[in-house]
Amino acid sequence: MQSEAAAAWLLDSMGTAVLVFDARLRLSYLNHAGEVLLAHSARHACGRSVHELVTNAEVLASQLVDTLGSEQVVAHRGCLLELPDAPDLRVNCNFTPVTDEHGEACVLVELRKIDYQLRIEQEEHLITQQQATHELVRGLAHEIKNPLGGLRGAAQLLEREIKDDALREYTQIIIGEADRLSALMDSMLGPNKLPNIQAVNIHEVLERVSELVKAEAGEQLQFHQDYDPSLPDIQADPDLLVQAVLNIVRNAAQALGNAGDITLRTRIQRNFNIGASRHRLVARIQIIDNGPGIDEALRKQVFYPMITGCSEGTGLGLSIAQALISRHQGLVECTSEPGETVFTILLPLEGKHES
Ligand SMILES: Nc1ncnc2c1ncn2[C@@H]1O[C@H](COP(=O)(O)OP(=O)(O)OP(=O)(O)O)[C@@H](O)[C@H]1O
Ligand SMILES: [Mg+2]
Repeated sequence: MQSEAAAAWLLDSMGTAVLVFDARLRLSYLNHAGEVLLAHSARHACGRSVHELVTNAEVLASQLVDTLGSEQVVAHRGCLLELPDAPDLRVNCNFTPVTDEHGEACVLVELRKIDYQLRIEQEEHLITQQQATHELVRGLAHEIKNPLGGLRGAAQLLEREIKDDALREYTQIIIGEADRLSALMDSMLGPNKLPNIQAVNIHEVLERVSELVKAEAGEQLQFHQDYDPSLPDIQADPDLLVQAVLNIVRNAAQALGNAGDITLRTRIQRNFNIGASRHRLVARIQIIDNGPGIDEALRKQVFYPMITGCSEGTGLGLSIAQALISRHQGLVECTSEPGETVFTILLPLEGKHES
């Protein structure tokens, strides 16, 4: 470590809350994630005893005392912390005995909120599942497309030989259905051009999509913008982003029967995980509608291809949106209940891209 400032910067960049308690069980250090977790600034919290910071401090205090007298790192899973000025927390904790710069014994405590870990595990699961499904679908679509070309060609040859108009109707059906299936396979294969990566203003993407959907849906669909103007440009393919957002916003408009409210919200997340990958800056784009919500039976599967609740839907919109966002190392998530459906697009604001 080169300097104290660099060490402090590193600790403040961590996603884990780090607390140090001295031998009198008073807090002597709190990093940035700790401030967020305890809902206290370090200035306000340091110097306070564990009993002032946590309402049910008995377990924590006795573990601090035990750790002070030992040389072992101890892990506790699923501890409930009741805080005086913030909602209760369920956390996993690590207690490590350390000595401070004056040689005094103290305890370093690492706290990780459990829902944070759960979210990472769920997202990782979602990413792996999506990738597997996407590969399977692409493979299948490719295999179906090849013989389709042969079928169509043979039907055309046959049509030329047939003199009877009534029989030609049948070859027309074969050709028409082969074309329909081929178009469906193209949308399952996704865009086959290489992404054209450039600096993109997310708000321009959202404005373009709302203009398009407004034109389709009419006056009774209201868009509300809740933008974070400090959101920097993202390195992305603007057409692919428009397509992904369009698929999500169009669904919202359809669920609302073209009459209701759609809120477009953007925020920056610092030191944020997308699955297990940690990013310094992440753009969070939310599309929120006040429609009836996703059918409960479909909720866990909406990102799978061919899952649809509309009679005329192909069920590809969301799986394509997910594939397009994952080409930018991002992820689409969804929560839904009657009256509020939220699709959240997470996109890293720096990093590599698929070429
Ligand atoms: N905002 C929403 N509110 C309610 N239900 C939704 C919403 N978004 C998606 N859904 C449900 O999820 C299903 C899957 O959506 P998806 O876009 O993948 O396919 P689709 O809209 O049916 O067909 P298409 O391929 O034409 O988009 C929808 O049919 C709908 O039932
Ligand atoms: Mg759709």
